[in-house]
Amino acid sequence: MKITIIGTGYVGLVTGTCLAEMGNDVMCLDVDAAKIRTLEEGGMPIYEPGLLEMVQRNRSAGRLRFTTDIPAAVAHGTLQFIGVGTPPEEDGSADLQYVLAAARNIGKYMTDYKVVIDKSTVPVGTGEKVKAAVADELAKRGSTVEFAVVSNPEFLKEGAAVEDFMRPDRIVIGADDERAILLMRALYSPFTRNRDRLLVTDVRSAEFTKYAANSMLATRISFMNELALLAEKVGADIEMVRKGIGSDPRIGYQFLYAGAGYGGSCFPKDVKALVSAGASVGMKLEVLTAVESANARQKAVLPDKVSTRFGGDLKGRKIAVWGLAFKPDTDDMREAPSRVVIETLIKRGAHVRVYDPVAAEAAKPLLAHLDNLEFCEQQNEALQGCDALVIVTEWKQFKSPDFDTIKQLLKTPIVFDGRNLYDPALMEAMGIEYYGIGRGLVPGAADQKKAGAAA
Ligand SMILES: NC(=O)c1ccc[n+]([C@@H]2O[C@H](COP(=O)([O-])OP(=O)(O)OC[C@H]3O[C@@H](n4cnc5c(N)ncnc54)[C@H](O)[C@@H]3O)[C@@H](O)[C@H]2O)c1
Repeated sequence: MKITIIGTGYVGLVTGTCLAEMGNDVMCLDVDAAKIRTLEEGGMPIYEPGLLEMVQRNRSAGRLRFTTDIPAAVAHGTLQFIGVGTPPEEDGSADLQYVLAAARNIGKYMTDYKVVIDKSTVPVGTGEKVKAAVADELAKRGSTVEFAVVSNPEFLKEGAAVEDFMRPDRIVIGADDERAILLMRALYSPFTRNRDRLLVTDVRSAEFTKYAANSMLATRISFMNELALLAEKVGADIEMVRKGIGSDPRIGYQFLYAGAGYGGSCFPKDVKALVSAGASVGMKLEVLTAVESANARQKAVLPDKVSTRFGGDLKGRKIAVWGLAFKPDTDDMREAPSRVVIETLIKRGAHVRVYDPVAAEAAKPLLAHLDNLEFCEQQNEALQGCDALVIVTEWKQFKSPDFDTIKQLLKTPIVFDGRNLYDPALMEAMGIEYYGIGRGLVPGAADQKKAGAAA
């Protein structure tokens, strides 16, 4: 199939590459000339495991091309995927200017039947706006060429995007045009061979499904973060509670980790957009409003723990931070909790030494306004001469560090673990002062645990 992808970001590039991998003829368009140049020169504008090799393979096979040429991109694909950004407006609603600009370009240049597919996360009713934008451009030219608009929200996770796209849990197609549905079924049939994963709905329900999915996941995280705060106050360990409830199949283990707050390019903006969609029809979404405010509070938990430990003022303190990306295996810094943590520590007087295996380059321009911030090349280098270590992102390499080296390099062996990577009893045994999230062990509990383990 001939496919055009409009917007070659995290979603567009993964979608285009994975569709090329299945033998399709894919052209990826972007208005960002530097991004397209990087891709044409064999480089990679983002970090996503496994993507570079797949891009290289499909480029050399001639199935994947990159362009800034809008008319050529519109002419190429029968299927025109829109995968541009939908950032939040001031009021939290999704900014549709990029989606509608892409739709207008399709209407301006198309000369034969097209299926216009919204893959960007867009509010209910956007399909109709896209349809109107394309129709308006066609009318300006007096053209009667036919087209259909389909909603096909994307559920991939950054850090596992290729795997998620190649082995999706489900593929949601919102459409009311039989010809378009047939084409979408054919396109996705290689991904649904061992069982049917395709759910065909109306356009509005498909659009809504994406926001509902992300809002549900964000709700689970905020719920656990709030319970973690309570656990600290009443003397319970949220990690025990997590296992205790996750084992219930009605609840499940996923997305039950207390931490430093959720971030990234999706959860914060999608929760905001759904709250705003509610407001636009006079309805306050009580649960999601609380999910958002609980998350804002959670981002302050790590710096507050540090301040409390050091008596409020952090002047003269050096703090090491491990992890910048909003989650492991990505370089995405959008809404990353690390930004709040680092900014707050520095505002309170600290000097921060930070290390991230991948996201430093993406972080530098975003943190350029901060003095007293040093980027380190190695994780242990960041510890040198620091009063404490703060862990913000759960990169694998942080999970089993050399604790003796940590003790040696830190001035005082204090660890604030925003991802609950370590066992408090082990930390105690190692002589490390350890603060996790929601690990309000009652005095003596660590000893009881040790005794239990020995028995
Ligand atoms: N990142 C994710 O994990 C993820 C997952 C599922 C859904 N989504 C949704 O997918 C959409 C894209 O997200 P992303 O993270 O890939 O964004 P991104 O910012 O990485 O990429 C968007 C790209 O679109 C380009 N662009 C903007 N206007 C354009 C135009 N008129 N023509 C051609 N290109 C244009 C930009 O230059 C940019 O490269 C959003 O709606 C997002 O909510 C993202």
